[in-house]
Amino acid sequence: MDIKVRYYPLLNSSSCPPAVGQHDKDRIMIRFIHISDTHIGPSKDFELQGVNTYNPFQKVLEGIQSLPFQPDFIIHTGDIAADPDRQSYSLFASMVKDIHIPFYYVTGNHDESAMIKSELQIGEKEDLMTDNLVYRFEVSRRRFLVLDGRGPREIDPHGTISDEQFDIIDKELSKDQPLSIFIHFPLLPIDCSWVDRDMLLFEGDRLHDLFAAHAEKINGVFFGHLHRGTTVIKDGVRYSSVASTCLQFGLLPGQDQPTFEDHKRGYFNIVTIEDGKMVVKEQSVKIGKEI
Ligand SMILES: [Fe+2]
Repeated sequence: MDIKVRYYPLLNSSSCPPAVGQHDKDRIMIRFIHISDTHIGPSKDFELQGVNTYNPFQKVLEGIQSLPFQPDFIIHTGDIAADPDRQSYSLFASMVKDIHIPFYYVTGNHDESAMIKSELQIGEKEDLMTDNLVYRFEVSRRRFLVLDGRGPREIDPHGTISDEQFDIIDKELSKDQPLSIFIHFPLLPIDCSWVDRDMLLFEGDRLHDLFAAHAEKINGVFFGHLHRGTTVIKDGVRYSSVASTCLQFGLLPGQDQPTFEDHKRGYFNIVTIEDGKMVVKEQSVKIGKEI
């Protein structure tokens, strides 16, 4: 298996406290895999912008399984399916059924929360809303919160967060233990015209202000939608997106319209959270035909 590793800058914050009761001889390390934007279609030969999506995700899954450690969980930050139909989710489910690592999912703008709930097996969690896919889970005293930013079709590809979700986030942030947050949409501009105009969460600034007020207890905010690995740090809050498993976006400064890039590699990130430090390592696997 050909795996390429690119190291992102170490995102370290001395202001992020250790977990409650944690000290040197009792370190709590979490390692999870971050994937996003698989865009699986109803059949194996489905293509997105001329690029097959099934084969790359299959290769990424093989890459994850060949890692020399057991991740605590895999988080998929949305756009599981290219369109929210049952065949696509059923095909996705068949691809991950033999992976013995808990899977967690976030609703993307191409997904439907109800269908994710009914078609996919999600790791142990506590639901915080009934209609939306909003829930929390805990691993080794680390807390994780999944938000649902999918809005009505008219606002696509923007996302939106209801006041009810703001109340839930507020409540979770009032607790002492460190929290990581997963959402499909970027909150903040990334210095790229078309993304900053079309792709952000409508309430991004308001949500960021809430996160910033609790920055010392947020390990990181992880998202997708950009089909590209990005890092944004603002007011002590660390945001990290992962590239797509199949097709990447061009995100250059001043770029007014989206462009698609077929890298012939499928991406995933390994995230390590330990002792107030977050490390994100981008991995990629070759997705062309074996020669
Ligand atoms: Fe998306």
